[in-house]
Parts: sequence; structure tokens; C-alpha cells
Amino acid sequence: QVFKLEDYRPSAFLIPETKLTFRLHPKHTLVQAELHVQTRTGAPSTSKLVLDGDELTLRSIAINGAPLAPDAYTASPDQLVIHALPNAASFTLTIETEVAPEDNKALSGLYRSGGNYTTQCEAEGFRRITYFLDRPDVLSVYTVRLEADRAEAPLLLSNGNPVESGPLADGRHFAIWHDPFPKPSYLFALVAGDLGSIKDSFQSASGRQVELGIYVEHGKEERALYAMDALKRSMRWDEEVFGLEYDLDVFNIVAVSDFNMGAMENKGLNIFNDKYVLADEATATDADYAGIEAVIAHEYFHNWTGNRITCRDWFQLCLKEGLTVFRDHEFSADQRSRPVKRIAEVRALRAHQFPEDQGPLAHPVRPRRYREINNFYTSTVYEKGSEVVRMIRTILGPRDFRRGMDLYFQRHDGEAATIEDFLKAFEDASGRDLQQFALWYHQAGTPTVTVATRHDPDKGELTLHLEQALAPTPSESRKRLMHIPLEFGLVAPDGSEMAVQAKHEGVEGNIIHLRRRHQTIRFTGVDQRPVLSINRGFSAPVALSLEQTAEDRMFLARFDGDLFARWQALTSLYTQALIAGYRAVLGQSAPSFEPALLTLAGDLACDEGLQPAYRALALTLPGEGDIAREIGQNIDPDAILSARTGLVSAVTQANAARFTPLYHALAETGGFSPDAASAGRRALRNALLDYVCSEPGQGTLAAKQYQDATNMTERSAALAVLAHRHNGTPEALAALADFEARYRAEPLVIDKWFQIQATVPGAATVSTVRALMDYSGFSIDNPNRVRSLVGTFASANQTAFHAADGSGYALFCDAVLAVEQRNPQVAARIATAFRSWRSLEPVRREKARQALVAISQVPNLSSDLRDIVERTLG
Ligand code: ARG
Ligand code: ZN
Repeated sequence: QVFKLEDYRPSAFLIPETKLTFRLHPKHTLVQAELHVQTRTGAPSTSKLVLDGDELTLRSIAINGAPLAPDAYTASPDQLVIHALPNAASFTLTIETEVAPEDNKALSGLYRSGGNYTTQCEAEGFRRITYFLDRPDVLSVYTVRLEADRAEAPLLLSNGNPVESGPLADGRHFAIWHDPFPKPSYLFALVAGDLGSIKDSFQSASGRQVELGIYVEHGKEERALYAMDALKRSMRWDEEVFGLEYDLDVFNIVAVSDFNMGAMENKGLNIFNDKYVLADEATATDADYAGIEAVIAHEYFHNWTGNRITCRDWFQLCLKEGLTVFRDHEFSADQRSRPVKRIAEVRALRAHQFPEDQGPLAHPVRPRRYREINNFYTSTVYEKGSEVVRMIRTILGPRDFRRGMDLYFQRHDGEAATIEDFLKAFEDASGRDLQQFALWYHQAGTPTVTVATRHDPDKGELTLHLEQALAPTPSESRKRLMHIPLEFGLVAPDGSEMAVQAKHEGVEGNIIHLRRRHQTIRFTGVDQRPVLSINRGFSAPVALSLEQTAEDRMFLARFDGDLFARWQALTSLYTQALIAGYRAVLGQSAPSFEPALLTLAGDLACDEGLQPAYRALALTLPGEGDIAREIGQNIDPDAILSARTGLVSAVTQANAARFTPLYHALAETGGFSPDAASAGRRALRNALLDYVCSEPGQGTLAAKQYQDATNMTERSAALAVLAHRHNGTPEALAALADFEARYRAEPLVIDKWFQIQATVPGAATVSTVRALMDYSGFSIDNPNRVRSLVGTFASANQTAFHAADGSGYALFCDAVLAVEQRNPQVAARIATAFRSWRSLEPVRREKARQALVAISQVPNLSSDLRDIVERTLG
């Protein structure tokens, strides 16, 4: 079944009030739902009520307290139709269903994790609990009563504020929760079980006292302290930056170890993948800390962007996700280093969203059709969605942007809104026309912007010629012209910023508004030839094709005042060098690299005037996937790896004399702190380690760092260097064995051990991964384990997944089909690793196609996996 945006109709019925009673039991949970049903005023009259279900068993049904006659309704596992409705504007429908949380391996609906009861209802999991109008525009006030065995589940949580609790007969007890804010069913949650907790409180700007709780496995309480700190910082930040306050008396977070995604913003009761809650220096890396800070903020920010204002339908998913990602990006930028954060965002966007946008799974930020909504929780909806909001701020400026946000909240609080509503608020607040801009929501694909400059010293004129193009994407063959805001600057030969002279059409301050196919911009009074710095801060998510000499790029890499653009200039130089190296390898010659580039890399890494985190990024070469994307077609992953390895050793040889002492100078002194500055020093030191230990026989320093490490950031980085650069050596084998022995009781740390081994370059890794799937700490039922081992292998190991003999695909297909039996969502997600198959060289391309066809022919494939595989095949 295909769902289409244009088919949206408001529901004929509303459910203003929902009372739920859960009698929790691992195999036989009884769910009683008392729904106050109303006909919507203005709705076309209808005589039947159709409720969504999914694998449900109906136990009883009554209207206004009277059981329904068998011919008054039809119940199937995935639908409940009531034919005989009372002749009244409203009535009470009471439904009893029975579910088996213990058998729910899809982790959608009500399930068990670590012996606790938990739920995941977004997008369509609520219908796996009870029959309902399971759509985001049906808002209801929930009262929830939970009953469970007290020994099994001393803790009973749901949305909103606690109302009452007490004992029941037979060792059972109950708790009642009430959430005064009307919400869609996807925001419903409950948690029942035996968990440890940490408590804190927060006083909101207007004086509300909010009790904060984070619930984790017993014994792990200390590891939730950083998450609590991040939560309080998020709450303060949203007040200060957006004027948004929390609105209930309690805010609870529960960490569970079996979770399909990162986390979920259920009203007042966020449920998290424990990987985004638990951290201490011994088990978490700096990247883990940053991830926790970002996800805690993200889910908290959803309280306004997602919960108070929700989505009219799932086509509007980016309304809450893109906006909330933008908000969490801004939060992290304020808490840490803004340029470093921006570079990380752009690297992630290019690594994940660009390939999506440029391949068979491309879709607009606001899609027009879907078969399986869970397959649209994509990097396009989230990360490109965030970039679109960022562009709105760039175009409007910060003041009008904030006014637009305020107007959006004012107009739509308590409603289920659309992208049109969102854009209208910005248009009305700023007086600007965003019609052309809106295409960013509606057209798929990454626009290409070509830029050429010409300087005429006699006339003192600089001419910029810009051109935009957008290639066809699936089901969108003809594209319209976009409104692309490009932040720019002109850098004078002495490194200073040139003041832009006159006013030009299409230029506002330091922004060029590219709206036509071609645009020519003339700057006058430019006597000395400046170097153009464009798409500063990555103001638009485009692929830039800039006619610029290597000398000009080197100049920008040293002098550009915009730190993002400076990094971009360096990255473009690396990319060009790597592509040339790739061509050399294909032509059977050794790649060679410009000495000036090698010196530049070393100079930036050693520049004490720059933050260490930034210097670490200057040493981070484009990934193999980035290089593949830039090459575009007939990819040979082995040649990419050779070129990249060649550049690593060239940079090392040119700079070893400075890198080794710098590495030692950065040694950790004093205690551990996860703050951004300390993390930056560790990042630089680990980047240097990777270089100085890159040559065969040079693993000693990594082995020493592994042994001496006082935190997980140091230890796992050293392990990665040993496993990736010294694969198979006694040092590497010893470290891998030691790591397993130390951390076998820590699943989240074993995930790192899986990831490191799954990314060892070369086809031999296929058999390593096969063997690890039999390791006792692996579980095909646990999404974190599956993603760390199988997902990482397919998405981050080009030379193994795309092994020329097809063995990587064979392993992967076996694994995906095994996962799919229990958890279709996770299987579909990891199967997106095939999305760039068409850009491979012909032999691999054909093997990949056969693998996809083989999956598509498996009988009874889930709609989740079928959707991905069929779209990928095209
Ligand atoms: N709304 C959640 C978040 O962005 C994601 C939940 C998605 N879950 C799913 N099964 N598709 O934080
Ligand atoms: Zn979200």
C-alpha cells in the first residue's frame, strides 16, 4: 500500500479523552482502553468507525458500557471496524486487547527489555497496543493506570504527572498518571520494572519546580550523571535562546538496552537507547559524551517542537525532526566549539545525506509518498531538514528568525501542523516571500552550484559567475530553480577581509541569493585580486564546483577568517589529491602528493593559534566513502583505500619530526574531564597517533597508549590504530584479546570492539565478522549489537562489504534476513548500505544487484525490507 500526501483527510472522529488500564504480564498483558469518541464537527457523516491495529487480539468491546453484538463490529489483528454506531455526537468505546510483551522482538509497541516493560509508539506502534485512530492529528488527553507485580515492577511510569499509587491484592500494585496536554498516540509511553535512578530538580524561568529523574539498570546510576547535567543545560538553553519553558511537574528519562533508534520524546517520559544515556570515562569516548549531550537535548527540545506542536501527518515528519535537529545542533555549538561542531555536521551530512540524495533512495525533505513510514526516518528528513531551517535563519537573519519561531508557537501551540504553516509564520514575521525557497522541502537531490571568478585589475572589477543545476531523482525528472543562500567573503592578498563595495542585485550583506539558473555579480573598486571564499559556514547544503587554483585554496586554508571555509579549502585539496592518487593506482603507478599540501597539513596540525579539536579535523582526511562520492562512478574501493593509505604515509613522512613530539606534549595531565577543550586535546593526540603509527612496524606507540590509557577515548583509539594499521600483528591480536577480556561484561564497550574489527580494511574481514556473529556477546535480537557489527561492516567498510568476490554481500544478506525475522525496522535500516551500488565498477555492481534481487525474492519479506530493497533496485 502506498500512502500519498494529497490523500490527507481529517479524521471523521476525534478522541478527546483516553483512559488506559494495563494489567502487565510478560505473556498476557491486558489493555483496557476507554475512549471518549466524538464526531468531528463538519465531518461528512459516516456510519462506521475504523480503528488501526497491528497483530492485536480483541478480548472485549462495549459502547457506553453495553457489550457490542458480534455483528456490530469486525475485528482482525490489524483493524477494528464498528458498523453500528450510536446515534449521538459522542460515546464511550471500551476495548480490551491482549498482548505478549515478551514475544515482541520488533521492539515496536509494548515489549520487554532487560526484564522491564517499555514502549515505542512512533510512528505506528500504538496500534500494536490497542485499536485506535493511530495518526498524529488525533490528539487526546491520557490518563493511564498501570498494574503490575510489585516484585517484578516496583517502578511504574507513564506520561505526564503522577496522580496516585498503592497496593493491590496478590503482591500487585498500581499507579495512575495523567497528562493534561492533548497528544497524539505516538507520544504515549509506559515503563514498568526494576530500575535504579538518579534524581535532580530544575527551577524554570517562571518558577516551576520540575522533578527530574533518570532511570537506568541498577548499579549504573553514576553513569547517568552526565546525561542529567546535559538535561539541565538543555532546559536552561531553550529558555534563553527560544524562550521555551518546560510545562509539567516531572520529567523522566529511562534508558533501555534494546531500542530501535536513538531515543524517543514521549511527553514527560523520554525513553532512550542506553548508549545515549550511560557514560563514564572508563567506558565511554568523548564522541559518546557528545552524542549523549546532543540526543538528551534533542529529545528534550521535542517537548515544544514535536509535542506541543505536532505533525498533521507523517509526511510532515521534518516539521518536528528537521527543526529539532537544528535546535540540538545550535545547542551543541553553544556548549562546545561552533566551527568544530559545524564541520562535524557537514562531514556527517556529506557522508550520510548526500549519498541518499544522490542515489535510488532520494526523497524530498517532505516526501509525497511512502509505503513504510519507518523507512523515512532518514538523514534527508533529519539532517537536510535541519539545514533547511538553518537556511531560513540565514535568509531572515537571527532577529526575524526568532520572531518567526515565536509566531509559529503562538499560532500552532496545541495543534498538528504542516510545513506550510511553519513557512507562513516566517513569511508573516519577516515580510519575505519564501515560495521559491519552499522547494527545499519539496524537491529531492543535492543542487550543484558552479562558481567562476574573473578579476579585471584595470577596471578594478571582480566578476562572479554562478550557475545552479539539479539532477533528476526518482520520480522527479524535471526540477525547478532553487533559492540558494550563499554566504561569502573576499579575502585580500594580505589575508584581510575586503569590504564589499556597492549594492548588487541578489546580494544582501554577505549573502548571495542565487535564485536563477545563471547569475553574474560584479564587484567594483576591487583593485587587488581577492580570493573568493564561498558557502561559508556551509550556508547551503549544495555540492560546490568552484573553479579555483590549488594556490588559492592553500591561501584560504591558511588565511580564511571563516574557520569552516578554511577547513573546506583544505578538504578540497585533500580530495583532489586523493582523486589523482586513485587514478594513479588504477594506472598501476604509485600515487604521489604535492609537498606543499603535506606541509600545509602539518602546519595546521601544529598551529598553536587554533583549537586542538580543529587541528584534529585538519588531520582527518576525507573518508573512503567521501572519495567514492566525489569520483562518482565505476568505483574500485581497493584503489581508493590505496590512494588514501598513500596520502596518510606521505603526510606522516613529511611531518613525523613534528608529529611525534606534539603527540607526547599532548599527554593527559591531571584528572579526566569530558569538556570540549579536553576532548579536543585527546582528539588531536589520537589523530597524531594514527599518523605516527601508520607504517608497518610502527605500532609500538599505539600499543603503549593502549596499555597506559586512563580513559576509553585513549584506549579505543589506540586499539583502532593497532587493528586497522597493524592487523594481524602480535600487538594487535594481544590488544584485541585484552579488550575483550576487560569489557566482556559491558555490552556498549563490546560494541566498540565489534566496530573496530568490522572496519579492518580488506576482504578478510568478511570471515572475521562471520565469526563474531557467533561470539557469545553478540545477539541478533539487540539493535546496538547488530548495528555495531553488521551495520558498521556494510556502511563503513568499503573494501570488505564490496569485496570483489561478493563474499561481503553474501554475509550481509544472511545477516539481514536473520535480523528481519525478528526486527524488520532494523533490517530495513541496515539494508540501506546498498544505496550506492550503481556507482561501483561493473563486476561489483553486478554482484550487488544479484544480492538485492536475491533478497527481494525471499518469500514473505516484511514491507519494511521490501520497500528498501525494491527502491534501491529502482
Ligand atoms: N522521534 C524520535 C527522535 O527523533 C525517533 C523515533 C523513530 N522511531 C521509529 N521507529 N521510526 O528522536
Ligand atoms: Zn527527533
